[in-house]
Amino acid sequence: MQKDWAWDDRYKAGKEALPWDTGVPASELVEYFGSLSCVPKRALEIGCGTGTDAIWMAQQGVVVKAIDISPTAIESAKGKTKAAGVKVDFSVSDIVEKMPVSEAGVDFVFDRGVYHVMAPEQRAIFINRVAAALDKGGYWLCLAGSADQNRDPESLGPPQLKASDLIDNIEPKFEVMWLQRASFILPDGKPHLAWKALFKKRAI
Ligand SMILES: C[S@@+](CC[C@H](N)C(=O)[O-])C[C@H]1O[C@@H](n2cnc3c(N)ncnc32)[C@H](O)[C@@H]1O
Repeated sequence: MQKDWAWDDRYKAGKEALPWDTGVPASELVEYFGSLSCVPKRALEIGCGTGTDAIWMAQQGVVVKAIDISPTAIESAKGKTKAAGVKVDFSVSDIVEKMPVSEAGVDFVFDRGVYHVMAPEQRAIFINRVAAALDKGGYWLCLAGSADQNRDPESLGPPQLKASDLIDNIEPKFEVMWLQRASFILPDGKPHLAWKALFKKRAI
């Protein structure tokens, strides 16, 4: 059975219920942009939460569309954008329900902790939408929890995916440019093992 994450309730409950919401741009995203000779032109962030990473990308000169299923998260993101003095096209949208941008509408997709919350039966839809949203040769930077860490299933932490959960599903549509160890630092201070992966849309 599909897990009920009650996303909007969590955003309404505030900080304590949002261990992923660090308020600072993801280091993996910052590092990736630092490795490029020029930043992407148009980006889509899926599951942007309160918008920290989308706003940071806009500050780098990227035209950003960012979606989240939670209206409360999007409201908060819009407020932060005003304060930051940049423009981001935020909207409430469910990636499983519909395409958030036109086909080949962006050259970069970012997801931090969103693919990993998809139920197994939703993963193919998510991957197909990312592939359809990307222009030829576009890139998807994906951050997901890793199963290579033993954890009490009852304890706080991100969903844990095996490398094969990522690769087997994604490879038919994407080349795997790299897949590396990373970590999510949650408010308990402990690093939670994660994957950072860069996928490139296949030419065919
Ligand atoms: C673990 S949180 C990560 C949020 C944000 N990326 C961050 O790093 O702060 C997962 C996010 O995905 C959003 N989400 C979950 N399912 C979604 C869906 N089907 N479509 C769009 N967003 C979704 C949730 O509302 C939540 O904001």
